[in-house]
Amino acid sequence: MLVIDNVTKSYGSVAALQGVSLELKAGEFFGLLGPNGAGKSTLMALIAGLRRPDSGDIRLDGQALTPDNLRSRNKLGFVPQTIALYEDLTAEENLRIFGRLYGLRGALLQERIDQALVTAHLQDRRRHYVKTFSGGMQRRLNIVAALLHRPKLLLCDEPTVGVDPQSRNAIFEFLQTLNSEGLAVIYSTHYMEEAAKLCSRIAIIDHGRLLAIGTLPQLMTRLPFRESLRIEGANLSRDSLAPLLSFGELTSDADAHVLTLHASTHLSDVFREAESAQLPTSSFQLTRPDLEDLFLHLTGKSLRDS
Ligand SMILES: Nc1ncnc2c1ncn2[C@@H]1O[C@H](COP(=O)(O)OP(=O)(O)O)[C@@H](O)[C@H]1O
Ligand SMILES: [Mg+2]
Repeated sequence: MLVIDNVTKSYGSVAALQGVSLELKAGEFFGLLGPNGAGKSTLMALIAGLRRPDSGDIRLDGQALTPDNLRSRNKLGFVPQTIALYEDLTAEENLRIFGRLYGLRGALLQERIDQALVTAHLQDRRRHYVKTFSGGMQRRLNIVAALLHRPKLLLCDEPTVGVDPQSRNAIFEFLQTLNSEGLAVIYSTHYMEEAAKLCSRIAIIDHGRLLAIGTLPQLMTRLPFRESLRIEGANLSRDSLAPLLSFGELTSDADAHVLTLHASTHLSDVFREAESAQLPTSSFQLTRPDLEDLFLHLTGKSLRDS
């Protein structure tokens, strides 16, 4: 559906994107995970057709996504990182303006506005001024405003920054519902938990380059370390753990044993075997590498600290 081919974009001497390529299939929930300054918003603005790449191209259903191609741009909705609403207008008035920009009129426009207010859980606030809204309410309104024309692709640029936990969950839920109904989503974030929870595929971006793309399990195979079980208890001999040796590699120190699991190992098999050997499974501690570990492995720095 969306093809991004070798896209480059610089601001003066700052190379914001360097040779970015990726393909998105219809209905995907795609994550763009990277720290501040990675190039996420720049890529979003290029896909939205708000800016032109310096080189490379971006096509939606085979058509160029450029600032002058409105037909293609109408197939997507864009929720920018910075909330773009008229504060001195009501929720409903804002939606009417956005809808008209997309060419909606009359009964259809009113129907879409009513649905948008329901989706955003803002029916009771339709006549309230946006400036009285919390960050989360504004964000919800901004997202549904980008959906009034029923795009097939929604670009959401860090939609949960500055949003309370309750609104965040509401945003997750309605994005997941819309996605299950067929909407493709590109979701940028610097929170690895969000990417892991929401996205069917994730691209890790840093310094304008895509470092890895795949499903979460695919990405995790890029890490040289795997799930491990820490087994406390100096009184447990290595011999007593012999039944587990087929599942991984065992290392031991004075306090504990650590069984680093083979990629093919199923955790449930380990526990079944351990229980039948009457090992103290309740004290087993599982360590599972996550996207943070992967980011550290790929870049040498932490996603959280950067
Ligand atoms: N309008 C701009 N002018 C100059 N530099 C910019 C501009 N927008 C972004 N940059 C720079 O481009 C890089 C990528 O920024 P951005 O796409 O906003 O990253 P992210 O959204 O991942 O935080 C950063 O180094 C940023 O400082
Ligand atoms: Mg950004």
